[in-house]
Amino acid sequence: MVPSRKILLSRDNQYHENDSSASQQSMFHYLAVKLSAEMGSQGYLKVLIICLIAALLGSTQAQLQLGFYAKSCPKAEQIISKYVVEHIHHVPSLAAPLLRLHFHDCFVQGCDGSVLLNSTKYYKAEKDAIPNLTLRGFDFIDKIKSLVEAECPGVVSCADVLALTARDSVHVIGGPYWNVPTGRRDGLISRAADALQYLPAPFSNLTTLLSSFARFGLDANDLVLLSGAHTIGMAHCSTISTRLYNYTGKGDTDPNLQSEYAKNLKTLKCKNINDQTTLIEMDPGSRNTFDLGFYKQLVKRRSLFQSDAALLDSSITRSIIAKQLQSTEGFFVEFAKSMEKMGRINVKTGTEGEIRKHCARKCSDEVKHLSAYGQWTMP
Ligand code: HEM
Repeated sequence: MVPSRKILLSRDNQYHENDSSASQQSMFHYLAVKLSAEMGSQGYLKVLIICLIAALLGSTQAQLQLGFYAKSCPKAEQIISKYVVEHIHHVPSLAAPLLRLHFHDCFVQGCDGSVLLNSTKYYKAEKDAIPNLTLRGFDFIDKIKSLVEAECPGVVSCADVLALTARDSVHVIGGPYWNVPTGRRDGLISRAADALQYLPAPFSNLTTLLSSFARFGLDANDLVLLSGAHTIGMAHCSTISTRLYNYTGKGDTDPNLQSEYAKNLKTLKCKNINDQTTLIEMDPGSRNTFDLGFYKQLVKRRSLFQSDAALLDSSITRSIIAKQLQSTEGFFVEFAKSMEKMGRINVKTGTEGEIRKHCARKCSDEVKHLSAYGQWTMP
């Protein structure tokens, strides 16, 4: 992808209050709440006007900043973290898909919530691209967005809701905490073909992975660190079936996968090459714990994907892995830095994009949607 915008320079750990942006946001909040109250059942008009005002009042300052919503929606971050704490505590296995959602959002059109959009009859969205068919957690994001919308209509972007939710979910399960500067706006483009092109595949080699990450300003360190996210979550047998059953087209297994581990996977989990549904832990025994498990498995040649195993293929990446294995705290600090970097990829700010009302529908699709459901009658 030719990035539409340069990656914003990092302004780590600083709180940049932007008065004009904040007062514009507050004014918008006031207008949006008033409109919501006054326009009653004219849903389509309300949505249209809220989207238009949001577009007009976007800050002219194209920078993410910590606490971007401090004035326009002071409770937004609190609402998100409260919901995450209450729910992820009971379903810790959701943290992994939420983190992956954020990654898949950022690598396609930038961190702009484009992964959350539904396909329409006019376009096939990222969500429906093959690498994204195994994504989960959309409902969770939609629910959080609806809570935030109830507090401040049309103020907080879906892209920010996703970035904050991913961070909070990982933190709740005992993982690292990273800064999430906010002010992302939601993108207007979501194309399945882009997802196929820009998301790295589990069979990628190291050269491909490095160039895939470099395209977004991420280096070898970021690649190794962010791949450490595979310490949580699950994968489908279908993702590794070729590696297990037909590596070179001769019914063989990838010799880079530890033989005992491969044998166990074949006997106990992925019992045949056609298994599309069985899920396997990426870090067996601690799939809900953010720890050094992934790197420990990796150096024993027990990582599931060729793309993970490829991280052992150069002395540079091997030394980054060795460094992580020295301390969990060190890994957390480094992971947090790479996540903050990833969260800035090609973000839309200022007057770019829009603030969606529903994460699955662009503002323009929202009007069509309401019309289709009989809620749009010409005034
Ligand atoms: C380096 C290139 C990467 C490749 C090729 C890759 C590929 C994959 C694949 C194939 C799966 C399993 C999907 C399934 O079968 O259901 C997966 C799962 C996962 N990935 Fe990655 N990934 C990469 C990087 C990342 C990054 C950068 C993150 C986050 C920062 C991440 C987070 C996750 C998580 C948390 C899961 C588990 C999801 C779940 O439990 O539903 N991955 N990845």
